[in-house]
Amino acid sequence: MPNTVIVGTGFYIPEKIYDNAYMESIVDTNDEWITRRTGIKERHVSADDEYTTDMATIAAKRALENAKMTAEELDLIIFATVTPDYFCPSCACVVQNNIGAVNASAFDYNAACSSFVFGLQIADSFIRSETYKNILIICADVLTKATDYKDRATCVLFGDAAGAAVVTADEERRGVITTVTGADGTGNNAITSLAFRNDAEELEKRIGGRKETIFMAGQAVMKFAVKAMADASDMVLKKAGLTYDDIKLVIPHQANYRIVDSAIRRMGIEKEKVFLHLEKFGNTSASCIPVALAEAAEQGLIERGDKIILVGFGGGLTWGAALLEY
Ligand code: UT7
Repeated sequence: MPNTVIVGTGFYIPEKIYDNAYMESIVDTNDEWITRRTGIKERHVSADDEYTTDMATIAAKRALENAKMTAEELDLIIFATVTPDYFCPSCACVVQNNIGAVNASAFDYNAACSSFVFGLQIADSFIRSETYKNILIICADVLTKATDYKDRATCVLFGDAAGAAVVTADEERRGVITTVTGADGTGNNAITSLAFRNDAEELEKRIGGRKETIFMAGQAVMKFAVKAMADASDMVLKKAGLTYDDIKLVIPHQANYRIVDSAIRRMGIEKEKVFLHLEKFGNTSASCIPVALAEAAEQGLIERGDKIILVGFGGGLTWGAALLEY
C-alpha cells in the first residue's frame, strides 16, 4: 500500500497590512489588549479586487514549483474555504482552470480552520486506496471580507492567506503516519457565517453576535480549542506508538497565543517545539497550518525524515491532528 508524502508546499500572503495601531484607529481597542489576549501584532488583508481563488492560484503554483511537478500531473485538487468566490462553481474547479490541471478531478470541502488536517486525511485515503496518485490540497480564505470591523472582539483576530501542499504516493518514504479528525455539531453556533439561512437575529440573541458577518462565541471556542488540540495530538501519538520526544515540531492552528500555550501545557511539551507565526499573520483560518508548514520547511526547522504533528480546531465545531514523517 503506498504512503502519502508531502512533496511541495507553497503559500501566498496579500501585501496590505493592518497593524495594531491601525486597529486602534478604527475600533475601540489597543495594542496592549490585543497582544496580551491574542499575541497578534499584524494581519494581512486582501485587496478589494482580490478573492480566495486569486490567492489560492498563486499558492498552488508555488507548491507545484516546490514539488517540481506540473499541473498536468495532478489527479485531484481538494480545496477548503469558508469564503468561496462562488457557491458554484467550486474554488477547486476555478483553480484547476487557472493552473491548467487538465487531468485533475476537483472539489471543495469545509472543515473550517481544521481543514488542512481533514484534507491530508482525505488525500491519504485516496492515495492508500490507489484511487489517485498526485493530489493538491489548498486552503485559502479572505476572512477579512467577512469580518465586521465594528466588532472589536473578532476584527482584531483575522487575516487573509492561502496555503497549498502537493502530496504524492510513495512506496518507500513514510509520509503520513496517522490522522484523526472529529466534529462536535452541538457547538455549531459557536463560529458562524450566514449563507442562505438567515437566522441572524436568533444567533444574535444566543451569542450576542453581529448581523453582517462572522459570529463568534470566543470564550466557548477557546475552551473547546485547548482540549481538542491537546487530545487530538495525544491521540495520533498513541495510535502511532510514539511520544512527544519523537516529535521535532508541532504546528498548531494559529488562532490565539493563549490557546496554543494552554494546549501545549496539557501536552507537556516545551514552547521551542511549537511553530507560531500568528504575531505577523493573525488567524488566517484553514491556511494557518499549510502556511506555517511551508515557512517551517523554508526556515530549515524541519528536514526530511523529521516527525511532526499538525493540529487544528475550528468552526463546526471540528478538530483534527496529523502525524507525519516530513
Ligand atoms: O479559528 C478559530 C476561531 N476563533 C478562535 O479561536 C477564537 C477563540 N477565542 C479567543 O481567541 C478569545 O475568546 C478572544 C480573543 C476572542 C477574546 O478574548 P477573551 O479573553 O475571551 O476576552 P472576552 O471576550 O472575555 O472579553 C474580555 C473583555 C470584555 O470587556 P468587559 O466585558 O470585561 O468590559 C470585552 O468587551 O475584553 C473586551 N474586549 C476588548 N477590549 C479591547 C473584547 N475585544 C476587545 C478588543 N480590545 N479587541
